[in-house]
Amino acid sequence: MSIASQPDRVIIFDTTLRDGEQSPGATLNVQEKLAIAHQLSLLGVDVIEAGFAVASPGDFQAVQSIAEQVGILGGPIICSLARAVRQDIQVAAEALKPAARPRIHTMISTSDIHLQYQLKKSRREVLAIAQEMVAYAKSFVDDVEFSPMDASRTDREFLYQVLEGAIRAGATTINIPDTVGYCTPKEMGNLIQGIQQHVPNIHQVILSIHTQNDLGLATANALAAIENGVRQVECTINGIGERAGNAALEEIVMALQVRQPYFNPYFGRAVDSDAPLTNIKTPEIYKTSSLVSQLTGILIQPNKAIVGANAFAHESGIHQDGIIKHRQTYEIMEAAAIGLPENRIVLGKHSGRNAFRTRLKELGFELNETDLNKAFNRFKEVADKKKEISDWDLEAIVRDETQIQVESGFQLEHVQVICGDCTCPTATITIVTPDGRILTDATVGTGPVDAVYQAINRLVQIPNQLIEFSVQSVTGGIDALGTVTIRLGHQEHTFSGQASDTDIVVAAAYAHINALNRLYRYLQTHQLDSVLVSG
Ligand code: KIV
Repeated sequence: MSIASQPDRVIIFDTTLRDGEQSPGATLNVQEKLAIAHQLSLLGVDVIEAGFAVASPGDFQAVQSIAEQVGILGGPIICSLARAVRQDIQVAAEALKPAARPRIHTMISTSDIHLQYQLKKSRREVLAIAQEMVAYAKSFVDDVEFSPMDASRTDREFLYQVLEGAIRAGATTINIPDTVGYCTPKEMGNLIQGIQQHVPNIHQVILSIHTQNDLGLATANALAAIENGVRQVECTINGIGERAGNAALEEIVMALQVRQPYFNPYFGRAVDSDAPLTNIKTPEIYKTSSLVSQLTGILIQPNKAIVGANAFAHESGIHQDGIIKHRQTYEIMEAAAIGLPENRIVLGKHSGRNAFRTRLKELGFELNETDLNKAFNRFKEVADKKKEISDWDLEAIVRDETQIQVESGFQLEHVQVICGDCTCPTATITIVTPDGRILTDATVGTGPVDAVYQAINRLVQIPNQLIEFSVQSVTGGIDALGTVTIRLGHQEHTFSGQASDTDIVVAAAYAHINALNRLYRYLQTHQLDSVLVSG
């Protein structure tokens, strides 16, 4: 059944790989984008905006690979963004060719402030370009989405005219962006109602919403739009995106699920209808959220709705008392609904490979033999230091050991640190270079992590600055695994790295190597090799 014939549910358009990747420092390589796209497909999103194909050769390759490998028959629609410019549209169409269901998403600004200062074009010109470029996109694909950028600050009469023209030219989805996150929910409702009333052909298309989170209203605005007839929502995992980000997929989906009786009537359904309002498989939410956080290096704030570490934690005595007596006193959804591991202690150092594999399967990780072996060896190492291995630990181990490795990157062989209050923190590091040389160096630093970073940098010789460093404990307890997440800056680019270990200095060293390998790979693919290690 085509999406167009299912307007009584919400179409989830995920833009983690396009708007989400526009988050400062969230640069992803093609393999990482593919891994996220595969997981988004498992999650059940309807549309994946895989990138902005014309932006760079890497973006083109990512859109093309996702179209080929994820956009298969029965899979999601694969979409590329394109400005209302011929070359953008041509390149998007080319990248999308392998997809079973390709979509071109073309956009042009319509607010006076954008026209005057950015586009330097008149309303009449923009009106003509919008129609011409939608028709041009339509000459490549049937499925064309049109966005009037900064719609919420656009003169209403002009907005209606542009939309009517875009639909006449062949758009099948009309997306209304609140580009600068300026709307309030009530205004959003009025905007959508106005469009429904004044654009005569609006009922021929799917109406969509794109809300930014500058005032923290992205989810509220998206839900207000749904209440007023919008049937596609553009959102990202963990709400990442330009500036303060986008509406978070997990928040929209869980609001529609938990408050289904409230939303049902807006879809013309009986209050108690239990046919889902989205196609999302909610038990995949937690895994998708962790993967996106790990690969983008953007940590999730602990109090983030749905996926934050505290979202299901009850601290106060009164709340704990209530939960023990009857869960629903203080819990409106179960952690299991989003696939959150229960933190049951299941494995220890005597656990065998079979138990390990079985538990991972229960947690939703299906590893190939190589990754399973790597993860099992690491599990044994950790179990030697830490008596009880929780689901959270297992997840960190799998994340570390199945990280998308940069072919021929640097490998960390040894980390040794001396530190204390009356000694100069000193690190000795051994690495293997991409061409197989084994190098050792030792440095002093202001602390053990600084010493480790300086020693690694001297060996690797790729200029970088440490922009951000954070340590999170995977579980409670003195023997907990610590996850270190870092961001490195190189010129105007940022690269993240993450690693876990019971020793946080060791975790920091691996996180640094992981980030450097991303930087190294970037330099290789962009042929900026003048700064790479020599001799
Ligand atoms: O914020 C915005 O206006 C966008 C559009 C391209 C939908 O990202």
